[in-house]
Amino acid sequence: MPRGPESSRREFLKRATAATVAASSSVHVLEGQERPPAPGADRVGLATIGLGIQGTGDTKAALKTPGVELVAVADLYDGRLTLAKEAFGDRVATTRDHREILARSDVDAVIIATPDHWHVPIAVEALAAGKHVYCEKPMVQFWEEGHAVVEAQKRSGKVVQVGSQRVSMISHLKARDLLAAGAIGELNMVDAWFSRNSAVGAWQYLIPPDASPATVGWERFLGRAPRRPYDPVRFFRWRNYRDYGTGVAGDMFVHLFSALHAITGSLGPTRIVTTGGLRFWKDGREVPDVMLGLFDYPKTDRNPAFNLTLRLNFADGDGDASGLRLVGSEGVMSVGNEVTLSKRARPTDVAYAIEPFPRAVKEQLLSEHRAQHPALALQPASAETYRPEPGYSASEHHFQNFFASIRTGAPMVEDATFGLRAAGPAVVSNLSFFESRPYAWDPVAMKASPLAG
Ligand SMILES: NC(=O)c1ccc[n+]([C@@H]2O[C@H](COP(=O)([O-])OP(=O)(O)OC[C@H]3O[C@@H](n4cnc5c(N)ncnc54)[C@H](O)[C@@H]3O)[C@@H](O)[C@H]2O)c1
Repeated sequence: MPRGPESSRREFLKRATAATVAASSSVHVLEGQERPPAPGADRVGLATIGLGIQGTGDTKAALKTPGVELVAVADLYDGRLTLAKEAFGDRVATTRDHREILARSDVDAVIIATPDHWHVPIAVEALAAGKHVYCEKPMVQFWEEGHAVVEAQKRSGKVVQVGSQRVSMISHLKARDLLAAGAIGELNMVDAWFSRNSAVGAWQYLIPPDASPATVGWERFLGRAPRRPYDPVRFFRWRNYRDYGTGVAGDMFVHLFSALHAITGSLGPTRIVTTGGLRFWKDGREVPDVMLGLFDYPKTDRNPAFNLTLRLNFADGDGDASGLRLVGSEGVMSVGNEVTLSKRARPTDVAYAIEPFPRAVKEQLLSEHRAQHPALALQPASAETYRPEPGYSASEHHFQNFFASIRTGAPMVEDATFGLRAAGPAVVSNLSFFESRPYAWDPVAMKASPLAG
């Protein structure tokens, strides 16, 4: 708001009020979500590797697609194998060893919903075994290993889809179309954030009372991570430890990168700098609970260069919130489950600048200005909201796309290259934080290198 002499302020407020009164808003329901394929489509034998919080949700969402049958589940905690039969039936085969699943001829596709350090090893093995792969985000723990998945996808000819469901989300597709149609003018900045306000949201997950070296496959869980004695906190709260997880950037920034890349068509940032700290959850974790990132996005065929800010806070006393706000020269889009396009014409008001002139000059300036800008009064603000039909599920939609790629060869919506272009900048955000220096990221070659601090 202008800080001018009182008369200018009053004038400004009068105009602002007029604009508010004249503001218009409308709500549209987004229809036309593709729902391929029809019931009775080819059977797809599915197996889930890692039946924890997300693996359970993913499996339920996947089974909503007709013709998909859950054949087997692998998990390293026996309680989850019991859960597999309780939730999906006694016919589901269970094992601690994912290799048994990959050896089965009745499994066509696998969901990989293990902790992050197992994503690449299992994805590469699964593709080599001829399985289609739905791999949870972030696709990688380290950016360097992502190229192995890209290669394995190419070699196998199988479908790879990474599990950032926002890429399929109908509101994001609408945002993509609105942006491409010039609805916000020239994109110049994007601001995106997640705030959380609970212990579980901050990864203090439940540890079951029967957890013990007898019920947990600890040695296999460690995988390529350094050996250490059985520790149920590390097993069930793995996100807090750098040996297995990817911190808040790998967990949450990656969703925002995926969403942004789906909307803008951008391949990724060229410069990455992050800061933050462990501000509240001082429970032995090795990663920050507050992280801020700044990212430079280069010009592309579709958009001018723009800047991105990402913010994450796991102790936000105002409650849970998230947002993705694309700012353009002619409007702003707020994208979440729904998308709202807000516009306010650029004011031609000169009140703030007119005061420090003598009366005669003031009058001359004003009459010239009004002649040039006959619509001096503020244009009305407008807001259009597009929301999905009731009951819409982005996760189910994402799985419909996965199975459509398997059955009909429909283009993959989030293949290994897309996955690396989202997860790469996310895990490089951690490098920037832990090494206190900016990083360069090559979004085409998908490679990182440190920049001078
Ligand atoms: N797309 C999303 O919105 C979303 C949401 C949450 C989590 N995720 C991702 O899903 C993955 C799992 O997260 P979660 O919250 O479900 O964790 P979780 O700890 O609840 O579940 C992980 C499961 O994997 C099992 N496991 C560990 N190593 C294994 C191995 N080698 N073989 C077989 N099973 C193994 C564990 O026993 C556990 O049951 C993470 O990579 C996470 O980033 C994605």
